[in-house]
Amino acid sequence: MENKRTRIVAGNWKMNTTYEEGKDLAQAVMDRLQPSQVKVVLAAPYTHLRIIHNMIHGVNNLFLGAQNCHESDSGAFTGEISAAMLQSTGVQYVILGHSERLEYFHESDELVAAKIDQVLRHGMIPIFCCGEKLEVREKEEHLQLVASQVTNGLSHLSQEDFSKIVVAYEPVWAIGTGKNASPKQAQDMHAHIRKTLAGHFGNDLAQKTSILYGGSVKSSNAGELFSQPDVDGGLVGGASLNAEEFVKIVTGD
Ligand code: 13P
Repeated sequence: MENKRTRIVAGNWKMNTTYEEGKDLAQAVMDRLQPSQVKVVLAAPYTHLRIIHNMIHGVNNLFLGAQNCHESDSGAFTGEISAAMLQSTGVQYVILGHSERLEYFHESDELVAAKIDQVLRHGMIPIFCCGEKLEVREKEEHLQLVASQVTNGLSHLSQEDFSKIVVAYEPVWAIGTGKNASPKQAQDMHAHIRKTLAGHFGNDLAQKTSILYGGSVKSSNAGELFSQPDVDGGLVGGASLNAEEFVKIVTGD
């Protein structure tokens, strides 16, 4: 039976594209995208958010995303961006807990949890990332590790707040490597994440949570990955920088 969960494909542009290139990329996605049931999120660099908001505003299945935000309301945090700032530019989704933030910016699970609260408080939807490094999988500790990330990041939420969350499973060894998780590896982990969520929030809410797969998604593997019963779409890095390829991922062509 086809599940009723919201299907989402989000493009994480990371630190790529100049302002002009970003506008061109957003336009090229808009030009190719057909109306569909899949929600499409463009998680662009901060500098591009407002113009892309203006461009995509009102396009029915296109949404604006950011890639991070600070955990405080405002203040002396030179160079940082607050949730209120993001919300005021029209951002609807915020990627949090991405493994690149954990690795290069030393973000802890607790910090990610605080950022989730901030984003929710400002009426935006967190895309909460989790995923193990290769050495953890090789030691067969990946199920345990991802469950603990999910628990540390989300278990403090009320049922109501949790119901807004999108989860993304991104095995670190699959990010930017061209080596995606197999459909079975993705399905097994997504089912495990859903079970962990059910333990905290009950089966009903866990069954309604969209869980995206990320890590070397491209048009040639998206169809099989996204058709797994617990995979509800994808978080796409490199391939989201090419409009044609990205839209193929969205449409499943
Ligand atoms: P790639 O699709 O480039 O592997 O990146 C995945 C990712 O990190 C998306 O957030």
